[in-house]
Amino acid sequence: MKVEALSPTNGDYQLKDYSDTYHSFDWKEVEREFSWYETGKVNLAYEAIDRHAETFRKNKVALYYRDASRNEKYTFKEMKEESNKAANVFKSFGDVEKGDRVFIFMPRSPELYFAVLGAIKLGAIVGPLFEAFMEGAVKDRLEDSEAKVLVTTPELLERVPVNELPALKHIFLVGENIEEDEKYIDFLSKMESADPHAQIEWVERTDGLILHYTSGSTGKPKGVLHVHNAMIQHYQTAKWVLDLNEDDVYWCTADPGWVTGTSYGIFGPWLTGTSNVIVGGRFKPENWYKTIEDFGISVWYSAPTAFRMLMGAGDDVVKKFDLSSLRHVLSVGEPLNPEVIRWGMKVFNLRIHDTWWMTETGAQLICNYPSMDIKPGSMGKPIPGVKAAIIDDQGNELPPNRMGNLAIKKGWPSMMHTIWKNEPKYQSYFMPGDWYVSGDSAYMDQDGYFWFQGRVDDVIMTSGERVGPFEVESKLVEHPAIAEAGVIGKPDPVRGEIIKAFVALRDGYETTDELKEEIRQFVKKGLAAHAAPREIEFRDKLPKTRSGKIMRRVLKAWELDLPTGDLSTMED
Ligand code: PRX
Repeated sequence: MKVEALSPTNGDYQLKDYSDTYHSFDWKEVEREFSWYETGKVNLAYEAIDRHAETFRKNKVALYYRDASRNEKYTFKEMKEESNKAANVFKSFGDVEKGDRVFIFMPRSPELYFAVLGAIKLGAIVGPLFEAFMEGAVKDRLEDSEAKVLVTTPELLERVPVNELPALKHIFLVGENIEEDEKYIDFLSKMESADPHAQIEWVERTDGLILHYTSGSTGKPKGVLHVHNAMIQHYQTAKWVLDLNEDDVYWCTADPGWVTGTSYGIFGPWLTGTSNVIVGGRFKPENWYKTIEDFGISVWYSAPTAFRMLMGAGDDVVKKFDLSSLRHVLSVGEPLNPEVIRWGMKVFNLRIHDTWWMTETGAQLICNYPSMDIKPGSMGKPIPGVKAAIIDDQGNELPPNRMGNLAIKKGWPSMMHTIWKNEPKYQSYFMPGDWYVSGDSAYMDQDGYFWFQGRVDDVIMTSGERVGPFEVESKLVEHPAIAEAGVIGKPDPVRGEIIKAFVALRDGYETTDELKEEIRQFVKKGLAAHAAPREIEFRDKLPKTRSGKIMRRVLKAWELDLPTGDLSTMED
């Protein structure tokens, strides 16, 4: 297929002449950028905040925060003090020590960021939970991680089954009129009287930093553990790929409950000393454009679903705003349609730069950075210091233009350290030859550009959020009417995929629309809104292997009118 490449539009970029020779780039070169290179004292929160508070960036705005009721800004010096206070509060009232898991389950607010940084300053491992999670999802994660401390709001506390979580010792509540006791602590009032000076806990580069739970095609969500060493790549990709410069005002739209919202919503921008805009509340096209206008956003990192929704809102909306501050736009999470790139050229007069990476990889790996030609529809090329390849199921590298497993040679700085309490799962990601196997299928063209083709497994990407079908199926069969359930991702023009459930009912239940709605609500309330099936189809029976495993690929073939393939393992 012949594609028209888009050349760089403007700018003087930090990563200029890119060629394959950069594969030999040595990450050690980046170490000099950190104060631990001289002092030997490591802590990501120090590098992201405190270090800048001691330089000319002291009074530079680190955080601009806005939602429906708040509009605030904090300099690096103030961020240092606020995160110090949070560290002191956690230490004094939560007994937080190095290695303890501190989970944070709340909507975006400045306090969320103080809490994350404060916990990291104590050497704790932070577990951010997306605010839309319901009881089942919250419990799985707090239980598996044996979280000792939770920071949440009185409203969200209702979704935390505190009595079923023996490891959970202290709960900090962020809200008004909190009734305190040994277990429940009023975070805001403690912050008010806390000391703005704190002792940072120095750690090893391989010590735990953050735990992001993510889904696969089987089993419960797994805790992907990242360590402080990841800062090397957070920093360098913020320079190379986000192209952050001293005067930039940067906005990442992702919630810190997902890896994009931490690696590039917290670490990347602050490690590079950039002014970072955080906006709370729900998505609305007008509000988004207004954010760009009001803050003068120059670098913007978002996701295909959001771009498609903006595109759907029409170009007239764009014209109402002054978006001239924008100079660099990026995308992650799902395939970025060439059509969206063309739309971006039309309305912003800028290219949208796709980036590919995963929760497990901790930072960007395959990207379109500003200085290179973009082939719309391609994820770009591996960044310097990263070797990517397409391999077959035996681990052999395939030549260009052959589809296979997208794999990365082990050894990039932000690679996950392990899967929490599940070393076999961690090992299962690797193939002989030191290949990390992503679970995506792709091909590489003759120019070294990578093209995403799909997931090898049944993982669903809906509106950029990763959902494991097994998790949804498990929740579905908890419903009294449901005997069996099989869940697939169904292609959708706006959301990438939507969740579709095939359901076989128990005897005595009627296949009504009311029941469908009840089932949808059941998953929504038990798991999360984004995990609830948008479509439900009743079937007398579901296709299963003789060992009883639901054959999702057959469900998908039914749905898409495709050949069902080999059915030799199917029962009957
Ligand atoms: O299938 C790929 C898809 O998202 C998966 C990783 O999801 P998650 O761990 O939630 O992380 C998302 C954000 C870092 C990948 O296996 N994916 C991510 N980026 C792209 C993508 N698919 C196509 N193009 C991308 N740029």
